[in-house]
Amino acid sequence: MNFHVMTLFPEMIEQGLSTSILGRAKEKGIIDFEAVNIRDFSADMKHHKVDDYTYGGGAGMLMQAQPIYDCYKAIEKRIEENKDCKCIDRTDDENALAENIDCKDDLDVKEARRLRVIYVTPQGAVFNQQMAADFAKEEDLVFLCGHYEGVDERVLEEIVTDYVSIGDYVLTGGELPAMVMIDAISRLVPGVLNNDESAMTESFGNGLLEYPQYSRPEEWMGKKVPGILLSGDHKKVDEWRLEQSLLRTKERRPELYEQWLIDNPPKPEKKKRRRKHNEGIL
Ligand code: ADE
Repeated sequence: MNFHVMTLFPEMIEQGLSTSILGRAKEKGIIDFEAVNIRDFSADMKHHKVDDYTYGGGAGMLMQAQPIYDCYKAIEKRIEENKDCKCIDRTDDENALAENIDCKDDLDVKEARRLRVIYVTPQGAVFNQQMAADFAKEEDLVFLCGHYEGVDERVLEEIVTDYVSIGDYVLTGGELPAMVMIDAISRLVPGVLNNDESAMTESFGNGLLEYPQYSRPEEWMGKKVPGILLSGDHKKVDEWRLEQSLLRTKERRPELYEQWLIDNPPKPEKKKRRRKHNEGIL
């Protein structure tokens, strides 16, 4: 999976994503990211200006449409070229399939294949695990990081497919939100985490917060590890963990708990086979 970040501060993205799990995944070639400097696409050769005053007045500067659009087009071109290179390695069957898709004039097909461009903005839908899972299915994702007072609306209309926020507060720029999203998306890409299971059972994987966990020693500061976890009875441990997840979610995130109850209605109890009128009697 490839992340392409349009930004005025590429070093922030490069430094933020090159360490730890994401850095290792990049080295292994499982994910890749490029931070593209919007300033490099400025039409102002002298000062490389990318912002200007807003029409209608008001404080602050606005990021202009042209450098962002040209930056996006350069990324889009690179992605297409990369895909063409990959075509050379395709088998005949794969080529026939791809050609079939390419020839279809069907708008739905074109729409479905559209490159997703995420504008990170406090005005967007609030990011969550479901969105991360949805974005993780893409081969390429483009992020646009805003600064100053915002971005000229016309370029947003032209290129953006998703408006996404990381919460109801305002940051100084889109770089941190983009990195937050890239982290959450990357860890869902197969092979990024060593233990595939950890992405499944942890918080939100099943719509609940994760249960409490313990490691050695068995007793610390007078606090003992719950006995059930030492019992070796896996079924009981699973039941206990689900119960703890439910309790924790109900207490800390009541809205998630309510949603879980709706999504997981109690299973109807199996009807007991009715006894024939004289069965078991005498
Ligand atoms: N840019 C500034 N604040 C933001 C937020 N909360 N989410 C996404 N992008 C932002």
